[in-house]
Parts: sequence; C-alpha cells; structure tokens
Amino acid sequence: MLLIQKPPQLPAGALLARLHAINSEHGYLPEDEIRRTASDLAVPLSQIYSIATFYTSFSLEPRGRHHICVCQGTACYIRGGGQILEKLEGTLGVCAGHTTKDQQFTLETVYCVGSCSMAPVVRVDEDTYGRLKPDRVARILKKYQPGEESDT
Ligand code: FES
Repeated sequence: MLLIQKPPQLPAGALLARLHAINSEHGYLPEDEIRRTASDLAVPLSQIYSIATFYTSFSLEPRGRHHICVCQGTACYIRGGGQILEKLEGTLGVCAGHTTKDQQFTLETVYCVGSCSMAPVVRVDEDTYGRLKPDRVARILKKYQPGEESDT
C-alpha cells in the first residue's frame, strides 16, 4: 500500500518552454508572469528563479533595444577585454548586467563567444566586433543610436 503519493511530474521541458515564451513576449520575465507560472504549473518560485538566473537568455528586468555582450573569456581578457568593458560601462553609464535609462542598450558580459582569434570581442545584437581597442567603442555605439541605425 502506498502511503505517500508522489506529486505529478511536469513534462520534461514544460517549465523551460513556458519561460522562453514569456521571455520572448515581454523581452524579460515579469514578476507577475513568474508567479502565475509557479501557480499554474505547481512549481516552487525558488525553482523558477534558479532557472531564470542560471540561463543568460532569461532576464529579470526589461532589456534594452540593443544587447551588448562583452567577452571576458581568457583570450579576450588577456588582450584587453577588461578595458573594453570599462570603456563601455563609462560611456553607457551602466554596469554590466544592466540597461541604460533610455532603454537603448543592455550591457552584459559573456565568457567566450567562439571568436577567440578575434579577441577582444564584443557582440551587439547579431554583429561581432573583433580586435577592439577602447577608442573604437564610441564609434560602434553610435551605429546603434536612434537615427543612426543601418543594416550594415
Ligand atoms: S575568449 Fe572571447 S571569444 Fe573566446
């Protein structure tokens, strides 16, 4: 005789799929959506937050129009990735992990984007910039300012 009944198991990936859908719709995971997901799927909030903070594709705050990833992997770091990050933080006025007040840029660090031969590397949306020097940062950011954006 079974004295303790096991709770029903979620189908594999159901929680991740739901979080991806929310993140795609809003650009981040709003708290009310996280709470609704926890209730709907009978999952502890702590489990959702541990997933949301583990995967870099999820964000707990609204992201900017453009997503900047500054590589701090070994190859990039020893070739000046730290100075590139400092320059970006100073120019944008935000620390890594945050979004500018005008919602134009979200600045994040990553650890290797697979372009080590081009170190140091920064990605802005789908564009990759390699062999960067801090004095190129302002010119790159200008391309993504309203009225300056192009397909090149
Ligand atoms: S360490 Fe930066 S691309 Fe590999």
